[in-house]
Amino acid sequence: PKAEFVAELLSKMTLEEKLGQLNLPTSGDITTGQANSSNVAKNIEEGKVGGLFNIKSVKKIKEVQRIAVEKSRLKIPLIFGMDVIHGYETTFPIPLGLSCTWDMKLIERSAQIAAQEASADGINWTFSPMVDVSRDPRWGRVSEGSGEDPYLGSQIAIAMVNGYQQHDLSKNNSILACVKHFALYGAPEGGRDYNTVDMSHIRMYNEYFPPYKAAVDAGAGTVMASFNEVDGVPATGNKWLMTDVLRKQWGFKGFVVTDFTGIPEMIDHGMGDLQAVSALALNAGIDMDMVGEGLLTTLKKSLEEKKVTIEQIDKAVTLILNAKYDLGLFSDPYKYCDENRAKTEIFTTASRNEARSISAQSLVLLKNDKQLLPLKKSGTIALIGPLADAKNNMSGTWSVATKGENCISLLEGIKAVAGNSTKVLYAKGSNLDYDETFETNATMFGKTLNRDNRSKEEILDEALKIANQADVIVAALGESAEMSGESSSRVNLEIPQAQKDLLNALLKTGKPVVLVLFDGRPLVITDENTTVPAILNVWFAGSEAGYAIADVLFGDVNPSGKLTATFPRSVGQVPIYYNSKNTGRPLINKEGKFEKFRSNYIDERNEPLFPFGYGLSYTKFDYSNLKISSDKMNSGEKVTVSIDVANTGNYDGKETVQLYIRDVVGSVTRPVRELKGFQKITIKKGEKQTLTFNISAEDLKFYNSDLKFVAEPGLFEVFVGENSNTSNKVSFNLVN
Ligand code: IFM
Repeated sequence: PKAEFVAELLSKMTLEEKLGQLNLPTSGDITTGQANSSNVAKNIEEGKVGGLFNIKSVKKIKEVQRIAVEKSRLKIPLIFGMDVIHGYETTFPIPLGLSCTWDMKLIERSAQIAAQEASADGINWTFSPMVDVSRDPRWGRVSEGSGEDPYLGSQIAIAMVNGYQQHDLSKNNSILACVKHFALYGAPEGGRDYNTVDMSHIRMYNEYFPPYKAAVDAGAGTVMASFNEVDGVPATGNKWLMTDVLRKQWGFKGFVVTDFTGIPEMIDHGMGDLQAVSALALNAGIDMDMVGEGLLTTLKKSLEEKKVTIEQIDKAVTLILNAKYDLGLFSDPYKYCDENRAKTEIFTTASRNEARSISAQSLVLLKNDKQLLPLKKSGTIALIGPLADAKNNMSGTWSVATKGENCISLLEGIKAVAGNSTKVLYAKGSNLDYDETFETNATMFGKTLNRDNRSKEEILDEALKIANQADVIVAALGESAEMSGESSSRVNLEIPQAQKDLLNALLKTGKPVVLVLFDGRPLVITDENTTVPAILNVWFAGSEAGYAIADVLFGDVNPSGKLTATFPRSVGQVPIYYNSKNTGRPLINKEGKFEKFRSNYIDERNEPLFPFGYGLSYTKFDYSNLKISSDKMNSGEKVTVSIDVANTGNYDGKETVQLYIRDVVGSVTRPVRELKGFQKITIKKGEKQTLTFNISAEDLKFYNSDLKFVAEPGLFEVFVGENSNTSNKVSFNLVN
């Protein structure tokens, strides 16, 4: 019935109405760029709009939907999109933080709660998951992805798609997912947002494409084109990418939307005028035009001039109508506009409790000398820093539906969790930095910190006074929410200088200092790692962040987050990632000392500060007894690897046990290690568990120089342990 219904509707549509379906203007409610929204209502009435995005509330959505279904000739309902990236009003950690939970069930659950809330407020389409692999923390949007690994990124992509779509778009609490940004958006030169991308196809297929493909295989209904070029052609106009790879090779059946003004931006890329780039986009395989209005305004002429075909236009319209049909909008255009749901299903206590627990699991304990953490719920704590009392910064970048005033600051969280026998003192200590550059340059959604206009000495003195009265200092420092995210690239990855100076002054008091580090990317904290005894990396952990951080600081929750992006020692090492190649001149000595004519730096070691997969716990896990079932594997068979993990510390805890494989000899060079499995387990103190992993030839496959997905016979090394640097190793041969 869908095919017949859509075909019949299509047959009634004028060309103008068809082009209208391809048009996705912004509502002007929440925007990230220049958009002319004054004509939106009139255009909807004239059938020139297919959907709207980033418009918030059932009331507003109902109003515009009514225009579409009551006033336009064919009464085609609009689709409503939004950047529901890491939660709706109940906000989860930024995606980079969420990925550090390594818990697919929790990640899927976070997307499901996001869908529940968004769909209760009129939204039926989210521009998520962002699955761009990135190895460059200078790029501000690393905060929105799942880090540097294609395997983990693929698992997370699947979990997110399933969470949003719940395998059934006919439900009223599932929403359409949009995989973005296709493709390679996470690899801009110099880490500068929107910059040129250039890489070999073998690298694309092995290292960057897998999460997009996994999301498509999981049934993601839509894909968003990226801003960057691929092989010299902007993704938005790239037929190889949008048609050959996405549709022909991967079998994608949904529709493709551009990113914001992606079509007109091809004029600046140097691909021609608006008519030319619009035709290029349609011919490449783009179906919907976000804000650009190139398809709406130029395709009639291009059709007359035979630069595009009506079949191509009909295909795009059909895919968009299919999605609306799948969402049930033709049966009930107001399916997602239930005032009662909006009142009862958003930001509920139950969802917030789940968010609190998920947020706590995203935090990564980087250092904990002499078990300074967890803190005692007694004595005096001095909480100091510009991020300590910053409610509207807690949710982080791209949380457009979040209400900043509802978020829990660290100060509120600590006061609530510490209990009555703890005295909590607070002072700001410094502004984000000495001048306002970061705040003004990065501002996107207005989540700036309140600037303190007193002199820096006055602000510091106040902090030192309370520091001197305290048993322990908790320093809440790092980036503000908008220092990462879109268009927030940085060349310096350190904590801003004003805060570094504050931290040094606090350390000079001689009191124990815990650094609670807020960031949307791996920062360079080589200095702090030397001077500060305990560091908890907290990202931007969402609306419940203050509670979640306090839960971990006081030991109500034992930290279990593990990094999904390498922390460099120096920005000069970037891009730095664990699954690199060996080179012909690898560094041989184990101490990492400089060696002439080897691949290394004269002024820095090769290793990162913290490797991929790294993260501490309050307890201790001992790994032993790594075994493999056979030293040979025929293709079609499996080998089983097992390892014992014992909790030898004083707390129950969760551990993510990671399995990496090295393909020692290949027809093309292979990474020194690749993540191929992981299990997150809970182990009580004093207990031991034996874990097993099965490895099949499927796990050994890669794209060779003919882009064939093959497993090549030969020696494979298997590493199992607590992070990507583990030395626990066994090996086997793949025969035939
Ligand atoms: O979804 C986003 C995208 O990630 C960046 N540009 C704007 C889009 C819509 O808001």
